[in-house]
Amino acid sequence: AKNVGIVAMDIYFPPSCVKQEALEAHDGASKGKYTIGLGQDCMAFCSEVEDVISMSLTVVTSLLEKYKIDPKQIGRLEVGSETVIDKSKSIKTFLMQIFEEHGNTDIEGVDSTNACYGGTAALFNCVNWVESNSWDGRYGLVVCTDSAVYAEGPARPTGGAAAIALLIGPDAPIAFESKYRASHMAHVYDFYKPNLASEYPVVDGKLSQTCYLMALDSCYKQLCKKYEKFEGKQFSISDAEYFVFHSPYNKLVQKSFARLVYNDSVRNASSIDKASKEKLAPFSTLSGDESYQSRDLEKVSQQAAKPLYDAKVQPTTLMPKQVGNMYTASLYAALASLIHNKSSELAGKRVVLFSYGSGLTATMFSLQLREGEHPFSLANIARVMNVAEKLKSRHEVVPEKFIETLKLMEHRYGAKDFVTSKDSGLLPPGTYYLTEVDSLYRRFYSKK
Ligand code: ACO
Repeated sequence: AKNVGIVAMDIYFPPSCVKQEALEAHDGASKGKYTIGLGQDCMAFCSEVEDVISMSLTVVTSLLEKYKIDPKQIGRLEVGSETVIDKSKSIKTFLMQIFEEHGNTDIEGVDSTNACYGGTAALFNCVNWVESNSWDGRYGLVVCTDSAVYAEGPARPTGGAAAIALLIGPDAPIAFESKYRASHMAHVYDFYKPNLASEYPVVDGKLSQTCYLMALDSCYKQLCKKYEKFEGKQFSISDAEYFVFHSPYNKLVQKSFARLVYNDSVRNASSIDKASKEKLAPFSTLSGDESYQSRDLEKVSQQAAKPLYDAKVQPTTLMPKQVGNMYTASLYAALASLIHNKSSELAGKRVVLFSYGSGLTATMFSLQLREGEHPFSLANIARVMNVAEKLKSRHEVVPEKFIETLKLMEHRYGAKDFVTSKDSGLLPPGTYYLTEVDSLYRRFYSKK
């Protein structure tokens, strides 16, 4: 199979959201801390009738319908998620309901979990399958689904929720350049979920930021090395049209891209203009550790990176800023934002992605974009995702209501024997929602 990659995609996020500006005021944070300091506009969250299973049922059904894919045509289904509803039964098995109905039970794949990285692991599994001898000619389907919620405190505004479905096959408009892939994996306690009775993570926010940037540096250096080995020339920021980052909050994405600019300046790459090189020169002798601590470097590199950030990163930031951290779906929602914003200009362009999951696992990889043929064209993918309309038709709720929902969900997490309020009122038609968890913890869903 040639040009294996993403042939189609769709995204779903809950219609309820809270404005960061309102949350800031409610929490008594200084004005601008969440909106400018973290760079976030709005945050989506699951109401009591939605969860990672309902969101993934919704997005898979929608993708199959909108691209007219026969469910029998799916041969592998992989889910990436870090939202644990069951310690044994995979989310994938819930999704089998859609396929069983059409007589298709011959579908490989289960769930992958490691913080925000599970979706990337699932994606690589599907791409590798299509490229392998075990491929039976059918499509792979990747689902990234998460509800990111934090305990009261500074991490709470970095939540979010969404599910994304990616259809994988040959002749893809979003094709993998599998040679250009570099990983960094290590054992760290930066963000983890050891308390199985709570949905909330234990998080060392500052450590997680540094780990993210260290993993980014390491992946970028490895990717540059691999590129140079294959191409016989230096790789720099100029060799990719866009950079897409896992986005816990937008400020970290700004810092990350600035870090790549700093890397290029230390390597004396041609991507960096003379003025910026001069400004960054005093920092070129810093040790790794010193460079992560230096506030001056952070400031100067962000200034130097600004014009390149606006061109190469800003078009990827729409949904991560509007929906929040979607964990496994966050990186792919950023890619979806790029397709939404630039679909007509992307053919022939290289896009580099950086996936990070705490704990930690990280990979940087490269995609080549092509126009594609209907229904699998970039233009049609943008049309199907209908991002502008989905964002516009959301309902803003006040912070008090958001917090009330989180309190209810704290009680519901791991609970049995309850029915939901059946208030599917806000949900658009076609959305799945949770109706009941019975005395044996079995979950029941309906479709609106
Ligand atoms: N106006 C403008 N900017 C402000 C204001 C204000 N009024 N107040 C603060 N800021 C800035 C700060 O200067 C800082 O920016 P800087 O880093 O550029 O200096 C930023 O806002 C955040 O302020 P902090 O005081 O650093 O924030 P705090 O420590 O309270 O929390 C954190 C931020 C650590 C990111 C927290 O939200 C968190 O733990 N989130 C979850 C962890 C996370 O997302 N990690 C990322 C990778 S792992 C993953 O994906 C889960």
